[in-house]
Amino acid sequence: MKGVVLAGGLGTRLYPLTFATNKHLLPVYDQPMVFYPIRTLVEAGISEIILVTSGPHSGDFISVLKNGKELGVRHLEYAYQERPDGGIADALLLAEDFAANGNITVILGDNTTDANIKKDVDSFKEGALIFLKKVGDKKELGRFGVPVFDTKDAGKIAAIEEKPKEPKSNYVIPGVYIYDNNVFDYIRDCKPSWRNELEISDVNNQYIKRSTLRWAELDGFWSDAGTFDTLYQANKYWAEKGRANEK
Ligand code: DAU
Repeated sequence: MKGVVLAGGLGTRLYPLTFATNKHLLPVYDQPMVFYPIRTLVEAGISEIILVTSGPHSGDFISVLKNGKELGVRHLEYAYQERPDGGIADALLLAEDFAANGNITVILGDNTTDANIKKDVDSFKEGALIFLKKVGDKKELGRFGVPVFDTKDAGKIAAIEEKPKEPKSNYVIPGVYIYDNNVFDYIRDCKPSWRNELEISDVNNQYIKRSTLRWAELDGFWSDAGTFDTLYQANKYWAEKGRANEK
């Protein structure tokens, strides 16, 4: 299994913080944001990783990550997304050659979690595996991909809606996905959404259409860090955890 970290986009939600640097290089407690998703992959036993980035500060990743060895990455590749806000699925397409017909675990560069997904990675064979997280604050739901459960089979996802105005469940879809190699063909079938992006939720819906999408609940803490509130929340969580571990 190889890993893909998606760290493109322009980070406009965090202006002015991202005027002079890439969002994923901003600090989350004592580390650059991008270290967290890379560590999630490494802890799952994935040591060959491609980082897709874009935008005016993309070159800065090299100074921070170098060849990845300090984080336990055996082989680190970089790819450049020409249209910086082409969408998550557009960025993922750049990992096709790297995947070399194999399965991939994909994580968004602004997602931090202490969940260990090693058993999911190790047991994955085909199709897609996505993760769900229950959300307490319903107002949060509209910022994410939200699953719609089958009315006849409550354990089955019938569809995924991206940023729904009227969410049909209390779950959100964190930015951690495991895919077989069909993912690249499915991306090519996607059309840009209302926000002119190739959406990862549309890719997941293609797996649902073929009954090849499974889900599992993500354990532990998970948060994106792409808004002022979630960047603060992630900093607070990791700072408290870091200090507790020092004691
Ligand atoms: O955080 C989980 C959510 O992430 C999911 O629930 C949604 O289904 C998914 O669409 C995504 O939503 P966001 O609107 O929050 O995604 P955002 O545009 O902030 O992009 C998240 C990361 O994806 C970003 O940190 C870098 C990468 N990305 C994004 C875009 C738009 C790219 O690499 N290239 C891109 O063109």
